[in-house]
Amino acid sequence: MQEEISRVKRDKDQASTNYSRMSRFYDLVAGNCEKKYRIEGLRQLGVTPGEQALEIGFGTGQAIVSMAQSVGGSGKVYGIDISEGMLNVASRRVSKAKVSQRVVLKRDDAADLPFKEDFFDAIFVCFTLELFDTPEIPIVLRECMKVLKENGRICVVSLAKKEKSSPMAVLYMIARRIFPGYLDCRPIFVREAVEDAGFRTIECTEMSMWGLPVDIVLTQKVPDTA
Ligand SMILES: C[S@@+](CC[C@H](N)C(=O)[O-])C[C@H]1O[C@@H](n2cnc3c(N)ncnc32)[C@H](O)[C@@H]1O
Repeated sequence: MQEEISRVKRDKDQASTNYSRMSRFYDLVAGNCEKKYRIEGLRQLGVTPGEQALEIGFGTGQAIVSMAQSVGGSGKVYGIDISEGMLNVASRRVSKAKVSQRVVLKRDDAADLPFKEDFFDAIFVCFTLELFDTPEIPIVLRECMKVLKENGRICVVSLAKKEKSSPMAVLYMIARRIFPGYLDCRPIFVREAVEDAGFRTIECTEMSMWGLPVDIVLTQKVPDTA
């Protein structure tokens, strides 16, 4: 039987406040160490010119700018994040990169996506799915399924839970109990979560960040799951 993943105890207001507090120094602390996973996720997602792409939990907007460069002048990139601080930092980054014309950023909760059905070609979720509480993970993925076009792709980059926890994973979970507000991410069964939501796996890469497993899973909305 699969081990239970731990629950997220803070509420959405706390998430919004904490990430807003972290927004100005988030890149200093997490930006560089998360970079190679984000780059690999974006490579797998392979956004192309003219596409409509969405990022859930865009943070400081690094992937938004990269996707905006990939969609070119004929495509558009949308982002949704619950934190006002992150929205401000990401908006500045987008404007500095001169891609504002092709980017729409919203402050909202990804558990209820404010977009039309069958609208996106590609969705990117990087170090964000694992900070939704367990019952909400399928809700967020169902929302993604709804707004994706047939054959649309979703790439999830996430801390991954494995059958046997690494020593680093054990230490991380202890630290998380001590600082629940700041370490709200926890390892989840990434591939199982997206497949349970009805997506079909195209590619799955297993990596590690300081001994913590990170899975990068590219999946697709296939017609018979629509
Ligand atoms: C760990 S950060 C990752 C940011 C970015 N994806 C990256 O890889 O750098 C998680 C982001 O998800 C956002 N977030 C948390 N809960 C959310 C929710 N319910 N809906 C939308 N965004 C949320 C946070 O504000 C934060 O910007």
